[in-house]
Amino acid sequence: MNDFIPPKPKPHARKLSPLRRIIEVRHSSISVLYDRSYSMHLGEVWTPSRKCYFVNQPDLVNRVLVKESDLYPKSISMGSMLEYLMGTGVFVSNGALWRKQRRMLDPAFDQARIRDVFPLMRVATEEMAERFRRHADGDVLAIDEETTHVTADIIFRTIYSKPLESEEARRIFRAFGRFQELAYAQGVWRMAGVPAWLSPGRFFARRQANVIRGLLERGVQDRLDELASGVKVERRDILASLLEAVDPESGEKFTRKDLVDQISVLFLAGHETSASVLAWALYLLANRPDIQERLYAESVAAFGDRQPEFRDMRKLRLARDVFREALRLYPPVSFMSRDATQTARMRDKQVKPGEMIFVSPWLIQRHAKLWERPDVFDPDRFSDPASRESQRSAYLPFSAGPRVCLGASFAMQEGMLILACLARHFHFEPVQGHTPKPIARLTLRSENGIRLRVFKRTAALPSVT
Ligand code: HEM
Repeated sequence: MNDFIPPKPKPHARKLSPLRRIIEVRHSSISVLYDRSYSMHLGEVWTPSRKCYFVNQPDLVNRVLVKESDLYPKSISMGSMLEYLMGTGVFVSNGALWRKQRRMLDPAFDQARIRDVFPLMRVATEEMAERFRRHADGDVLAIDEETTHVTADIIFRTIYSKPLESEEARRIFRAFGRFQELAYAQGVWRMAGVPAWLSPGRFFARRQANVIRGLLERGVQDRLDELASGVKVERRDILASLLEAVDPESGEKFTRKDLVDQISVLFLAGHETSASVLAWALYLLANRPDIQERLYAESVAAFGDRQPEFRDMRKLRLARDVFREALRLYPPVSFMSRDATQTARMRDKQVKPGEMIFVSPWLIQRHAKLWERPDVFDPDRFSDPASRESQRSAYLPFSAGPRVCLGASFAMQEGMLILACLARHFHFEPVQGHTPKPIARLTLRSENGIRLRVFKRTAALPSVT
């Protein structure tokens, strides 16, 4: 089987004018990149608001994200409108407030809790498979919409122990799609030197954010009412963990507003990202039928005709590596921004306080000097000892250091489960004439969607030895 090189925007060979750069970035942050961006260690970009650096060199990335992370707090100017949605939630906070929030949130995502929510993930996955079964063989499905539906349903069920109703889901998707667009555009205007209060769209962004927060807040209020009524219902969901959480240092608990802020973070950070990478993973598999067949055989061997159980997860090595490889090629968070707070020497540059640093999983994970055949889809590279160093130093889809993704294990479990279940019951083929176009705004998506043909598996199980 030949190598499959999936789509990536064509890098520019020559320098763009500042105006063209803003136009390109406004469209997508990965369509402004140059050939050189994929092989340089440290890049510098001038913008009307401030100077920015792209850090690709692993030891510098480690300095920014891990060793000296206190000196490089999260920059919220890129998406300051996120506050409308997330308030002072853990995704946007910094310093002592952020540390307190992590202390209180981490236990809700430890291994035991993730095992507790496995059955909720499985129900949502089975319902997705049911939706697929209702279509005729070979129908073209909008896969990215389906993965958004299933991951939103999973995070909703794991937070509240109840499914996301279709009408609520539609309202949230519409509001969030519009919000994302406005928040990203505002970040670009800020970089172009337009003050926040003049940025177009703030009013509209707040309105969309209120729709989403309103829905999430209702779930919190229902639970508080239930508790106040004295009805005892044993729940092992995320909301129950947050209600129990106590900061070991101050003894404080989350207030009602804190709960809504954190749930907004978890809901949005926890479904949009997983939905994006799952859709890409299925597209990659559709273009490598041989790997798809191996994944089918693995699922049959792991759980066959019964429901998958938590204990089966460790048998799904290929599902894990396909998911990891999709995360390498299409990291949902393609750029992370940090503010420099002190003067620092990086290679031949003097970074000054107030300047901005970008660490880009998209660039680092496709870097010509850090990976072999960087643009090729090859899940087996993760079991090849020759790529160990790349995996160790140039793989960060969930970031690294203290601000590493809170939901990384949750997302891995969810991704592997969905891929294994879908591969067990269906197979996917590309649609002639449809090539997805990756664009990165707040998250990485396909501009023209991801469409695939879906077939039910009817053949006898393969013999697995
Ligand atoms: C494949 C799926 C996911 C990917 C690729 C991903 C990636 C990331 C990345 C790169 C960051 C760091 C962003 C930055 O520092 O600028 C992050 C932070 C975060 N993620 Fe995820 N994420 C995923 C799924 C999830 C899930 C399922 C949850 C929760 C259920 C979650 C919750 C969070 C939270 C709360 C933060 C903020 C952590 C902090 O700042 O302390 N993520 N994620």
